[in-house]
Amino acid sequence: RKRVRTHTLAQMKARGEKWTMLTAYDQYAAQIFDEAGVHVLLVGDSAANNVYGYESSLPVSVDELIPLVRAVSRSAPHAFVLADLPFGSYQGSPEQAYETAVRFMKEGHAHGVKLEGGAEMAPQIRRLVEGGVPVCAHIGFTPQSEHALGGYRVQGRGDASQKTIDDALAVEEAGAFAVVMEMVPGDVAAEITKRLHISTVGIGAGVETDAQVLVWQDMMGLNAGRLPRFVKKYADLRTTMLDAARAYVSDVESGAFPGEEHTF
Ligand code: KIV
Ligand code: NA
Repeated sequence: RKRVRTHTLAQMKARGEKWTMLTAYDQYAAQIFDEAGVHVLLVGDSAANNVYGYESSLPVSVDELIPLVRAVSRSAPHAFVLADLPFGSYQGSPEQAYETAVRFMKEGHAHGVKLEGGAEMAPQIRRLVEGGVPVCAHIGFTPQSEHALGGYRVQGRGDASQKTIDDALAVEEAGAFAVVMEMVPGDVAAEITKRLHISTVGIGAGVETDAQVLVWQDMMGLNAGRLPRFVKKYADLRTTMLDAARAYVSDVESGAFPGEEHTF
């Protein structure tokens, strides 16, 4: 298998082949998902919740994310490694966005970056692409704007669908290689996918997008909290780990571990 690159994803879109993205924030997740054939590993700012224990993605910093990106890049021989730009690190100006993206690529060894926003982020996207940075946009529900959008809710329903469509066209025009669409009605996502030449990546956007993305701790059942309806649970790692940790505690307490075979 060869390294996945943006042109690989473009070819897949052109041939009507679906591709996959999963989050990863560390070595083992990156190795395992790469071995499984996941095309793009996203070091999401969702590390705020899933690594650092913050209540939302807003507090996480560039300095907190870069070491995670580096760990994933080192550990994934085939996947495209996409780094999420966190809140406040790119919205200020195209130049700020470029400086932040360069840090993720030079220090984190990312292959591209993702940022949230549609038409209003076109200047940032254009600046990054001109500077040699592949950009994935993110429209629909954008968690960094949670407080501006009035909480977690589906975007682009009814009359608002035109804004979502315009955002998708604007990020393609600005040079993005793909666009994540989060919590967008399935029919709107399907129409956008037909109209765009770049790949659409759905999360809560139905089955018609070119690709799908999920947060791995959600889809593998590590997260104990309430999951959004768009998550499918593929494993129950929380129960597996809880059982293992309890068995260890009980073995140590009873003297069943370590045994003869673990002793020099
Ligand atoms: O940070 C993240 O995990 C994301 C995905 C949910 C698309 O942005
Ligand atoms: Na994100």
